[in-house]
Order: sequence, then structure tokens, then C-alpha cells
Amino acid sequence: MTNTTKTGMFSHKKLERNVTLLGLCALGAVAIGGIVEIAPLFWIDSTVEKVEGMRPYTPLELTGRNVYIREGCYLCHSQMIRPFRDEVERYGPYSLAAESMYDHPFQWGSKRTGPDLARVGGRYSDEWHRAHLKNPRSVVPESIMPPYAFLAEREVKVGDMSDHLTALSRVGVPYTEEAIKEADADLIAQADPNANSDALKARYPKAQARDYDGDPTKVTEMDAVVAYLQMLGTLVDHQKAKAYEQPR
Ligand code: HEC
Repeated sequence: MTNTTKTGMFSHKKLERNVTLLGLCALGAVAIGGIVEIAPLFWIDSTVEKVEGMRPYTPLELTGRNVYIREGCYLCHSQMIRPFRDEVERYGPYSLAAESMYDHPFQWGSKRTGPDLARVGGRYSDEWHRAHLKNPRSVVPESIMPPYAFLAEREVKVGDMSDHLTALSRVGVPYTEEAIKEADADLIAQADPNANSDALKARYPKAQARDYDGDPTKVTEMDAVVAYLQMLGTLVDHQKAKAYEQPR
């Protein structure tokens, strides 16, 4: 052994045996890593690249999203398509950060007992969703998803949507004053086939208004959940969105 190695071994021994010195050096090493990750965030305007087409949820979609959270759908379903070829081939273009920028809390999920739902909008008919939610085995015989038939019986509670939109606007979701004021009317307009939905559609581009649950007499949680599922992943035109590159 040469002299230099001996010196090297000696100083390492000293470091390992002195708990204060080891602690300080570990803190130094971790702090450098932390600064490298955190510091750039102070110089960039936003970590989320804006994408054309994103808009806040309509009151009915938001209600459906609340039911989705209440029922724990996120325990079995993710809403984030990762930028890998197998994911993109199965689910469609990978998710962009901007696509969940109005989600509080986000629904990325961490478990996939069922498929990812980030782009399920428009993939099935409303009838399919209704039959599937009422009894998943009626359309997918091998399914292990629980039935949610009661959603069709429960009428949506109307009256507090303005408060809900106000709360979201406080955390940065750009609902206009008018959208907040008209929230309850917009909720009805999206699910009632006899209501006028022009104002709703002007406020929320690409909003689809129809009777989702097959029962035009009332607005149920089934209307809300199906409306939510049918809009997932449909807002951004991914052919046009510059943020997409071909996954490698
Ligand atoms: C116990 C786990 C579990 C829970 C909870 C669950 N699902 Fe599922 N889900 C599945 C499985 C497994 C499938 C795949 C088989 C099928 O289509 O039924 C599925 C399929 C789906 C599909 C079809 C997706 C596709 O691309 O084919 C939709 C939509 C869906 N679930 C919505 C929901 C909603 C909404 C809720 C909450 C009200 C929910 N799921 C709760 C397990 C679950």
C-alpha cells in the first residue's frame, strides 16, 4: 500500500467515528442535492406548461368528480398515462401536467386494479357506462369492479355549487364571477334535455349537455359521474398540442 491510500483510509475512519462530523458532512451532501432541485423553481414562472383547450370543470362534471372521490374510484383507477410506449399504445397520448392543473386534489392515483381513466371520455356510449356502473359484469363478464347502481337513485344536491366554485377559485381555478353566480343553473342545464345549455357551452367550451342517466325527469349522481367520465381527456387536442413529442 502506498502512503496516499493510508492517508485516505485514515481520514475516512475519522469521519465514520465522529458522529458530529459525519452528520455535518451528510447534511452538506443532502443540501447540495436539495438546492440543485429547488433553486431553479425560483427563476421559472410556472412549472406547468399551458396547453390550449384546458378549462375548469363544469358544475356537473365537478359533481361527478366529487362522487368519484367519495366512492374511492381512485383506489382502483389511475388518471395519468405515463410517457412509455406500452402506456401510449393502450391508453392514448400520455398525460400532460396541464391536464390536471385544475384538479384539487389531483387524481393521478397510484394503483391500477382497473384501467387508467385519463382518456376514457368518448370511448364508450352513455348506455355502456350506465350498464357498467349498475353492474360491471353485465358488459365485462370477468370484471371485479363493484356495482354502483345506487348512483342512478340518488338525486344531485343542487344549491351549493357557487360556494364550491368559489372555494376552487381561491386556490387558483379561473372561474369567472358569472360562472360562480350561475353554477347551480349550469349544473341543471348540462343534464336536463329540456333546459337551454347555450350559456353553459359559451362558458365551458366543449361541454357536452344531454341526459346522461337515461332519466330526463331528474338529475342524479349517475348523470354527474357519466358526464365526468365522458369528458376525461377530451379537452386538449393532442394533435395540435406542441407539448407532445413522440415517446422514445
Ligand atoms: C375494486 C376496484 C375498482 C373500483 C373501486 C372501481 N373500479 Fe372501475 N374498474 C375496475 C376493473 C377491474 C375494471 C376493468 C373491468 C371492467 O371494465 O369492468 C374497471 C373498469 C372501469 C371502467 C372502464 C374502463 C375502460 O377503459 O374500459 C370505467 C369507466 C370505470 N371502471 C369507472 C369506475 C368508477 C367511476 C368507479 C367509482 C364509482 C370505479 N370504476 C371503481 C375496478 C374498480
